[in-house]
Amino acid sequence: MNLATQPAPAAAPSGRARTPNETYNDTVVRHFAVATLVWGIVGMLVGVIIAAQLYWPSLNFDIPWLSYGRLRPLHTNAVIFAFGGSALMATSLHVVQRTCHVRLISDKLASFVFWGWQLIIVAAAITLPLGFTQGKEYAELEWPIDIAIAVVWVSYAVLFFGTIAKRRIPHIYVANWFFAAFIIAVALLHIVNNLALPADGWKSYQIYTGAVDAMVQWWYGHNAVGFFLTAGFLGIMYYYVPKQVGRPIYSYRLSIVHFWALIAIYMWAGPHHLQYTALPDWAQNLGMVFSLILLAPSWGGAINGVMTLSGAWHKLRTDPIIKFLIVAISFYMIATFEGPMMSIKTVNALSHYTDWTVGHVHAGALGWVAMITIGAMYMVYPMTLGLKSMYSIKLIDLHFWMHTIGTLFYIASMWIAGVMQGLMWRAANEDGTLTYTFVESLARTYPYYLVRLLGGVIVLAGMLVMAWNVYKTFQMARDAEESPVLDPADHVSHA
Ligand code: HEM
Ligand code: HEM
Repeated sequence: MNLATQPAPAAAPSGRARTPNETYNDTVVRHFAVATLVWGIVGMLVGVIIAAQLYWPSLNFDIPWLSYGRLRPLHTNAVIFAFGGSALMATSLHVVQRTCHVRLISDKLASFVFWGWQLIIVAAAITLPLGFTQGKEYAELEWPIDIAIAVVWVSYAVLFFGTIAKRRIPHIYVANWFFAAFIIAVALLHIVNNLALPADGWKSYQIYTGAVDAMVQWWYGHNAVGFFLTAGFLGIMYYYVPKQVGRPIYSYRLSIVHFWALIAIYMWAGPHHLQYTALPDWAQNLGMVFSLILLAPSWGGAINGVMTLSGAWHKLRTDPIIKFLIVAISFYMIATFEGPMMSIKTVNALSHYTDWTVGHVHAGALGWVAMITIGAMYMVYPMTLGLKSMYSIKLIDLHFWMHTIGTLFYIASMWIAGVMQGLMWRAANEDGTLTYTFVESLARTYPYYLVRLLGGVIVLAGMLVMAWNVYKTFQMARDAEESPVLDPADHVSHA
């Protein structure tokens, strides 16, 4: 059964054609899709600023809230939770309605989830530069915001699962399985990792201490990668790839195996972030073994996505949205091959603390997460505006090349810099003294920081091209509404 390629019910009970918003709540989807674009630009702009600060440290102008230590978590929170989170909410709420053939259970709850999430993002954008932080990576926000996140997240879960419960068809399409796992796991991770005792309005103390705190933190951190940055985006892959290609997913059976294998294995791999630390050796080895096993379901799922194109490979030449989606899956394969290798203790002894990790992160973040998001968004905007396609296909193609080239500059420079740093730090003279000082390795890294900055600027410029295209698309929809002679669905793109 392939619900991704099935058309939605077209006629209202009266027999006249339905407007998209009558059948489904597309307003909330559109709002989240616009938020995705806005936060994507903001988050990547902050990324570019911190990349520039690593090259020109004086760019913090001695202002505390512009310091690297405060802007870096602003970048990670903005790109992961604001950009990625809005994209996941847009797509999950879009997909669940289309594949269950039913409207969201409540429009009010939907707008509460949207405005609640945006408010949390704004609160993060204010408190992080002010220096309020729990000091836990990807869980920096202080307790009042954490409580707000829990409330909005549970409301989002009620909205999503309530809609599934109300579905008109017995089958639950596989994309929803991935979204469901992402929603449940993130709730669990967020609540357990943020258990803390408040000391005052903006300060709290973790209930965990020492190695246990580290273990809980990286159980959270790794599964944030596994369920936020991976499972949810696989949900996107399972709906938007078949939809755009116009073919069913390559193997429905493989998608089920993929799902269960992935969620069973991810939870155990967290200790690979703590190799050679005070964590017991057995836990470090467990993390390594589960990371290596993780390669199989990751690639199995990716192959399922890519093979959906079999028999329609020619579309890769002409459709830039398919290029975004398929190249995203290729980067996913790169990141999920590299990750298991980096979890091997002897490899980690070289890679840890170096820019290799940063290169790996952005192969996943810019290559996989951002590209699958951008591809899906180029489908969501016209679909929820009642248009056939975006304003300009040529601009999508331009964006594709800018994003791909920028990403390659970023990750290639960090890979080279990282391996170089690792080798320089361990190089020893015959008498056992170190061959290089740390500052020497830093000096050698500078040119690569410049290349990374250039890559980031190109990626950001690509996002601005997208913003223009989206603006013109919305304008096109408005014009079509104002001149009813034209059916908005008949709009042809400015290819
Ligand atoms: C224009 C695009 C981007 C630029 C220029 C950029 C730049 C940076 C820089 C300079 C760092 C700090 C590295 C360090 O501390 O050594 C960083 C960290 C990070 N970025 Fe980005 N970034 C971009 C896009 C993204 C996106 C789209 C995501 C996620 C979807 C992302 C996720 C992360 C994460 C998770 C880290 C922390 C990595 C770690 O702790 O190892 N970035 N980024
Ligand atoms: C099979 C899948 C994967 C495995 C086994 C894996 C493994 C690893 C390992 C071993 C590290 C380095 C830990 C360290 O030395 O500190 C790491 C870091 C990281 N990976 Fe992956 N990775 C995988 C996929 C991905 C994907 C797809 C993404 C992003 C979308 C990603 C995002 C990250 C991030 C953000 C970090 C940096 C965490 C930090 O230190 O702040 N990983 N991963």
